[in-house]
Amino acid sequence: MANTSVAEKFRSMEYGAAPEDPHNSLVWLDRFGRRFGHFIGGKWRAPAQGRYFATADPSTGEKIAEVAAGSAADVNAAVKAARAALPHWQALTPHARARFLYALARQVQKHSRRLAVLETLDNGKPIRESRDIDIPLVARHFYYHAGWAQLLEREFPDYRPRGVVGQIIPWNFPLLMVAWKIAPALAAGNTVVLKPAEFTPLTALAFAELCSEVGLPPGVVNIVTGDGKTGAALVVHPDVDKIAFTGSTEVGRAIRRATADSHKKLSLELGGKSPFVVFEDADLDSAVEGLVDGIWLNQGQVCCAGSRLLMQESIAVPLTKKLQVRMAALRVGAPLDKTTDIGAIVARVQLERIEGLVAQGVAEGASCWQPDVPLPARGLFYRPTLLTNVHPTSVVARTEIFGPVLAAMTFRTPAEAVELANNTAYGLAASVWSESVNVALQVAAQIKAGVVWVNSTNMFDAACGFGGYRESGFGREGGREGMREYLEPVWLRKAPPLRARAARSRHRTQAADAARVIDRTVKLYIGGKQVRPDSGYSLECRSSTGALLGETPLGNRKDIRNAVEAARRAQQWGSATTHQRAQVLYYAAENLTQRGQDVAARLAAVVGRKQAAEEVRLGVERLFAYAAWADKYEGVVHSPPFRSISVAMNEAIGTAGVICPPEAPLLGFLSLVLPLVTAGNCVVAVPSESYPLIAGDLYQLFDTSDVPGGVINLVTGRPGELLQVLAEHDDVDAIWCYGEEKLCAVAKRLSAGNLKQVWTNEGRRINFFSAREGEGRWYLDHAFQVKNIWVPYGE
Ligand code: NAI
Repeated sequence: MANTSVAEKFRSMEYGAAPEDPHNSLVWLDRFGRRFGHFIGGKWRAPAQGRYFATADPSTGEKIAEVAAGSAADVNAAVKAARAALPHWQALTPHARARFLYALARQVQKHSRRLAVLETLDNGKPIRESRDIDIPLVARHFYYHAGWAQLLEREFPDYRPRGVVGQIIPWNFPLLMVAWKIAPALAAGNTVVLKPAEFTPLTALAFAELCSEVGLPPGVVNIVTGDGKTGAALVVHPDVDKIAFTGSTEVGRAIRRATADSHKKLSLELGGKSPFVVFEDADLDSAVEGLVDGIWLNQGQVCCAGSRLLMQESIAVPLTKKLQVRMAALRVGAPLDKTTDIGAIVARVQLERIEGLVAQGVAEGASCWQPDVPLPARGLFYRPTLLTNVHPTSVVARTEIFGPVLAAMTFRTPAEAVELANNTAYGLAASVWSESVNVALQVAAQIKAGVVWVNSTNMFDAACGFGGYRESGFGREGGREGMREYLEPVWLRKAPPLRARAARSRHRTQAADAARVIDRTVKLYIGGKQVRPDSGYSLECRSSTGALLGETPLGNRKDIRNAVEAARRAQQWGSATTHQRAQVLYYAAENLTQRGQDVAARLAAVVGRKQAAEEVRLGVERLFAYAAWADKYEGVVHSPPFRSISVAMNEAIGTAGVICPPEAPLLGFLSLVLPLVTAGNCVVAVPSESYPLIAGDLYQLFDTSDVPGGVINLVTGRPGELLQVLAEHDDVDAIWCYGEEKLCAVAKRLSAGNLKQVWTNEGRRINFFSAREGEGRWYLDHAFQVKNIWVPYGE
């Protein structure tokens, strides 16, 4: 022994078991007799149908407790309790609400160990993670939102809470998702009905008890347990004002459809297939540690897991080798053991899904490598897995596996890396590794994802909004943008329903036909050019007295497709400087001023002289306003509590389809299209049905104002038909639909395919003549999406 070197001693050293004591959590479970009802109106209530289901420890298969199976009746009782609690909760001062959120943060900290153990028992995640990541972030979320509650009136003047919020969460970060959902909702003055996932309901129920302990008024937070059917009942409940969902893209799509006919505000945080891009100049050892956090955190059951490893070809071999060495050192085992790196998979169905997808990947040609690490004799475990030779079209490169499985591919150039990174329907997160700040930031800016971590991964903070692009969903959680999800302008609900005037385009009177003089014929405007419609048909446009004013093209599917293509070709508008965009808008304002009298004279035939003059006057003002906003609506830099900054950039969404309001043909058009264009989006707009001839005036304005071809495209025709094509088009990223209630519902329903961001007037009449309702942040907030780029600093 005397001759043994220290190095040898280290090599031979074995880890001993270091189990966390579950005693306190078990005592807590026993206190409830291991059977839980719903938490409704501040009381524990047995389920209406008397049914319960078991929740088990996935590392042993042993039942932990029984929880209530929620029925529609239970959901109804919870929504009623939340509605009843609303007036009192909203009547409290912001400070009083802030104190409750603060008390919840303190209470979480006080019981942090018990909560961490309970989370690990129910979910199977290593105690190291629940103790050091999940629960501290839960407390941080309540502290942060106590702050927003306190500042609400000053920071969000003119906004009000949505009302009763339905929240549905998954099983991967059970208590953290409770915090992400409940903290902003309460801070904004809403009340809540939350349904935890069926595999992991326990910490949400423990949280319910904390709500009682801090004296939260009954009904402000209600927890109903159950499965997908319970969630579906909450989604369709008519007295819920907003749904916030985190979970699979499939269910997100179903919820989009199920809420289409309602006025429920919706936010969706869905799946991902996030790229983890390693350049040849990266610090490979750090990148390997990043991968451990990126794909093996929580057994890879993480929506933003770095599940696609993209390696620059020159370092693929050494990186793979280093990775395999590190993987062999990962400890898979008892989740309550403090030395465990990889715990249990949440449920058998999930384990089988992982096994099935890996087998499919191998059948498609991937090579599968797993370290020879021991697995516990029982329980649901899966070895850390590396798939190489993965083709970008393979199922394992495209599908969210939600397990400890890394699919590796190579690239040669930064451009190729970006192309591969964006070669997915998702857009939740990305990780970029390079010692060159230029390369890293250039690539980060080009990846379409809501969060990009530079030389780091899986970092979260309540101040930094989290959420996806594309099929990863819409809306953000955390930050100011997360608060906005739970608020709406005070004037919005007071806006009366929109009753469109009967379209005059096909309305003929004999007298008018007798005086048939076609004043004007306009064309479609696509890619900066005037073009004839594919159909060769046109629609008549008539004045308020029925006189024929002119004809507009009857656009069809093909015209929309061409317009979308032109818009996509013009995407560099999104990278124009904000100064350049402002210049174009100022120039357009100047040109509209010059032509104003002619435009107003023509418009007067439909809306009357007074309104026409007002539309032109305010149109010029609106152009000025968005030119002003262009270089002032900027992102922010967050300072999260790590050695990092997070740059929250306001990015364009992409291509937007706009159905213009039937009223205010000029001002309505400008009020919707300008914020989108200011934000760098390209637009395919369907001008107002009541006066589509405005298209002619508009394209002359754009042509003379240096608006690049393709940035604004105009397709006239029947709004309902054109909306359908736009909403179903996979290259359209957002729809703004202003019209009657039914049209808005169609926009939402048909947009579920690629989960476009849909924004409508909810069938209300918006007063575009008022700057308060018709212009500003409310519009810009919908025209941008926030991307957080995390950049660490220090040695
Ligand atoms: P899921 O999307 O079915 O479940 C998430 C939550 O939605 C649960 O609370 C569930 O009860 C509820 N739910 C299910 N159907 C519903 C419906 N029709 N209406 C309302 N609520 C409903 O996810 P699941 O089945 O647990 O996991 C399947 C796959 O989804 C995973 O393998 C993973 O790929 C993905 N997933 C993604 C998550 C993410 O954070 N992005 C989280 C969980 C799962």
